[in-house]
Amino acid sequence: MLIMIAAVGKKNELGKDNQLIWRLSKDMKFFRERTKNAVIVMGRKTFNSLPKILPNRRHIVLSKGKDFNKELDENVTVIEDKNQLISYCKELSKKEEVFIIGGASLYGMFMEFADRMYLTRIEAEDCAADVYFPEIEENKWEKTVLSEEEENEIRFCFVEYSRKRA
Ligand SMILES: NC(=O)c1ccc[n+]([C@@H]2O[C@H](COP(=O)([O-])OP(=O)(O)OC[C@H]3O[C@@H](n4cnc5c(N)ncnc54)[C@H](OP(=O)(O)O)[C@@H]3O)[C@@H](O)[C@H]2O)c1
Repeated sequence: MLIMIAAVGKKNELGKDNQLIWRLSKDMKFFRERTKNAVIVMGRKTFNSLPKILPNRRHIVLSKGKDFNKELDENVTVIEDKNQLISYCKELSKKEEVFIIGGASLYGMFMEFADRMYLTRIEAEDCAADVYFPEIEENKWEKTVLSEEEENEIRFCFVEYSRKRA
């Protein structure tokens, strides 16, 4: 299964200055639990924004260059070509869970192929955001609110989107 996972603000804000905008520990926990032991796929900027290579997950990074800010190990595979990445992930997702974890460029690439999305919808805005989640064609998805949460006076909910089958 091919799954996208992201946390977004009211205007679909994803990040600014190559960092997340909101840091919510419940959201981090949700991310860790969902992606544990799965394959995680990301752009090079998102890879560089990780504090470290995450344990128990195979990382696949899209990059044409070598501008990595941490040493790569056997859990990290770099793919240079977008189409090669897409076909590789589609094939892999027939056998296991493949999570697209960002950033904006990767969500855009995989929107049409994703079977499921987990979006943390945060009740906050940031007009200084410089990357946004792509538009969702609501009629293509079955939407389920998994839970409603609050942390540091910020309200948010976890929403699952499953692609409607024709
Ligand atoms: N809120 C969330 O859930 C969430 C999740 C993830 C990320 N983010 C945020 O999103 C932002 C990063 O997103 P982003 O879209 O700017 O960057 P990104 O998708 O993480 O990475 C972009 C990089 O991916 C590589 N890439 C992209 N398209 C490519 C292509 N067609 N062919 C080859 N390589 C390609 C390039 O790497 P090279 O330059 O090395 O070639 C490019 O610079 C950060 O602010 C991050 O914190 C938010």
